[in-house]
Amino acid sequence: MVAGTACVINAHQSATGFVQYLREQDLMPKDSLTIKHNRTGQQVEYPLLQGTLGKETVDIRSLYKDLDCFTYDPGFTATASCKSHITFIDGEKGVLLYRGYPIEQLADQCSFLEVSYLLMNGELPDKAQLEEFSLEIAHRSTVHESLRYFFEGFSYDAHPMAMLVGVVGSLSAFYHSELNMNDPEHRRVCAARMIAKMPTIAAASYRHSVGKPFVYPRLDLDYCENFLNMMFSRSSPNYVDPDYVVDPKQAKALNLLFILHADHEQNASTSTVRLAGSTGANPYACISAGIAALWGPAHGGANEAVLAMLDEIGTKDRIPEFIARAKDKNDPFRLMGFGHRVYKNFDPRASIIRKTCYEILEDTQKQEPLFELALALEEYALKDEYFIEKKLYPNVDFYSGIIYRALNIPVEMFTVMFAIARTTGWLAHWLEMTADPSTPIGRPRQLYLGPEKRDFVSIDER
Ligand code: CMC
Repeated sequence: MVAGTACVINAHQSATGFVQYLREQDLMPKDSLTIKHNRTGQQVEYPLLQGTLGKETVDIRSLYKDLDCFTYDPGFTATASCKSHITFIDGEKGVLLYRGYPIEQLADQCSFLEVSYLLMNGELPDKAQLEEFSLEIAHRSTVHESLRYFFEGFSYDAHPMAMLVGVVGSLSAFYHSELNMNDPEHRRVCAARMIAKMPTIAAASYRHSVGKPFVYPRLDLDYCENFLNMMFSRSSPNYVDPDYVVDPKQAKALNLLFILHADHEQNASTSTVRLAGSTGANPYACISAGIAALWGPAHGGANEAVLAMLDEIGTKDRIPEFIARAKDKNDPFRLMGFGHRVYKNFDPRASIIRKTCYEILEDTQKQEPLFELALALEEYALKDEYFIEKKLYPNVDFYSGIIYRALNIPVEMFTVMFAIARTTGWLAHWLEMTADPSTPIGRPRQLYLGPEKRDFVSIDER
């Protein structure tokens, strides 16, 4: 168990049992961390855990019991909330691995469903496995007819993310009683169903917002082609639009964006899914919670906000003015698509997307002045002392909107696109978490700063 200087993580150790065991057996490793309570003088040693890659992590699960105090880390900046085998990020070196594979290799050579299979199952599929999985996803892509009526409750100008949160959550009403959370096959089917239905629901939310009839998924198209067809073809049931043929280059670009957005370890939305899932809640409701968390402009909503910002800046000569605003502590304006909690050198996804922007704009022969503006803004910001000192670089969302725009995806749909892709990651984490019987309910503590205990005062005396 204790090999060399660091402890190997055992997935099934109970919270305090592990540390207690080490202490009792006098096996506390040399690479441990001692915490001393300076008022009482009490001193306790905690083991440093070493994962396959990444930082050592001090196991402080028994700290409350040992020293009768909590840790305070509001943004989880130094807190590992779980053990995971799925995605690894090295923020200093700009490395992103899905199940050990570099994102650059997957983005270049895989289909999105291949990557989804990898994230969920831990290994890349062989040909037969991929064919079977793709067929299952295609067959599960239609939604219950009653689900279509949910859209009618939304005003035409409802934001597509609002519809997505509501309609995905309502899937729990269709698949609840039949779901046995203790059965791994039930959980797998639930994940496949969700991945399959997301593009259908996402496209339906767009069609509803523009007052067009819903387009049914087609079995002869792949995942990305199907989504584009459901967005843009004129077809209705049993009718194939002869005027709309999916452009393979556009489907390829979408495939790439979906792969880049598929997972990103314990980000805000994934942590939300895990937290909701830790209570044993219905998985469709958990994914809906993840979608809600993704919507914010600090997270997945940034791609929409970047386009709004570029529109507002308008011309290159106004860049210095907006950079100055971003640096001004009294101005709430931030440079959207810049900065990241983990990446402090470069975001490898942004580098891939910037390159794809050139390709897709050339292919579609679209003039995109906003791309020129984005490049100029990046160049200007990266030379600025404030951005250098704070290590703020373009993130994945700085350029993704430019590609979505070239694919004719409306701006309000940008975060929905992110949600389709990230559903795979959310489900991979949900599957990992639910397969581990030792997963506790997520229940943080707090530093209470409210009033001390006081007596009730009747309304007449207040
Ligand atoms: N523009 C101007 N200043 C910034 C920016 C920015 N985009 N991002 C961070 N800073 C400053 C911030 O004001 C703070 O300054 P100080 O130390 O003087 O208080 C410092 O840099 C550190 O920022 P932070 O907010 O403590 O960093 P964080 O790790 O908590 O936040 C972030 C990360 C992504 C929320 C933030 O960089 C941000 O708001 N960026 C803009 C929104 C955005 O692009 N979000 C998409 C993230 S990538 C897609 C995804 O995975 O969700």
